[in-house]
Amino acid sequence: MTWLVTGATGMLGHEVVALARGRGHDIAVRTRRDLDISHRDQVESAFQTLTPRVVVNCAAWTAVDDAEEREREAYRVNADGPRLLAETCARHGARLVHVSTDYVFSGDADVPYGEGDPAEPRTAYGRTKLAGEKAVLDALPSAAVVRTAWLYGAHGSNFVSTMLRLMAERETVEVVDDQFGQPTWAVDLADRLVTLGELGSAAGVFHATNSGKASWFELAQEIFRLSGTDPGRVRRTTSEAFVRPAKRPAFSVLGHARWREPGLEPLRPWRDALRAAHPELAKPFR
Ligand SMILES: NC(=O)c1ccc[n+]([C@@H]2O[C@H](COP(=O)([O-])OP(=O)(O)OC[C@H]3O[C@@H](n4cnc5c(N)ncnc54)[C@H](OP(=O)(O)O)[C@@H]3O)[C@@H](O)[C@H]2O)c1
Repeated sequence: MTWLVTGATGMLGHEVVALARGRGHDIAVRTRRDLDISHRDQVESAFQTLTPRVVVNCAAWTAVDDAEEREREAYRVNADGPRLLAETCARHGARLVHVSTDYVFSGDADVPYGEGDPAEPRTAYGRTKLAGEKAVLDALPSAAVVRTAWLYGAHGSNFVSTMLRLMAERETVEVVDDQFGQPTWAVDLADRLVTLGELGSAAGVFHATNSGKASWFELAQEIFRLSGTDPGRVRRTTSEAFVRPAKRPAFSVLGHARWREPGLEPLRPWRDALRAAHPELAKPFR
């Protein structure tokens, strides 16, 4: 039974391919060059050739700031693409696991967002990803839509790799202490995406982040600590000092109610995941 993984060269896609292969699945890997998910003919032809039973969509426009100026292009990848995948899965009887984001929420809350809480994106990226969620569930109500946040991993640039690099380059590093979220290891998320692919029946919205809560400052301090480096070299700053084209949500903590359902298990606390990930992530910086 073939699985199709789109966006397979991205940070998350890499881990989904590795995890699913490790669990014995026959994986068809597709990068943007092989399969642009926003092209109807390419999607149809991939389904004709591969006849996948499960599709895990890790492809996305993830340049959050660029999306502010190029929302139409981001929409093609984040909304039109997932709609095409869902319609094609529906026609071919395939299961779809689609990845979304905390940016669908406003970030104004102070208690974790539940899966059913109203979405209210404040950025172009968030609007395009919310449109993608809706398009997927309209076309294929049995699909699983999995929101994640604050991802890091061994493939591609992310906050953890940036901190490991800056630790070697600078004496001190300034990091914001007024945005809160859940640092999430791509390997842990990939494991749950594969589980959702295997379970034929889990439908609707899931939140998949490592549990707990941290500010970027707290995360940076933990990375320094795990690297045997003085966490006092991380200095607090505020979002006002780091203005970006797309406003970052102040609060991106997600609730995990759906992982209490049969056959599912919530992700571990973020500090445990970071401790497990650190040796591999730190290797290129030694
Ligand atoms: N990173 C985070 O912190 C974070 C947080 C919340 C949610 N997410 C979500 O997690 C998912 C995976 O993100 P990631 O961090 O792994 O992103 P990533 O490293 O940027 O990977 C995205 C992949 O999608 C591919 N892609 C872009 N446009 C495509 C298209 N039209 N057709 C096919 N493939 C296309 C990219 O290929 P090219 O490299 O060739 O462009 C890349 O391989 C996304 O849905 C993202 O929205 C990520």
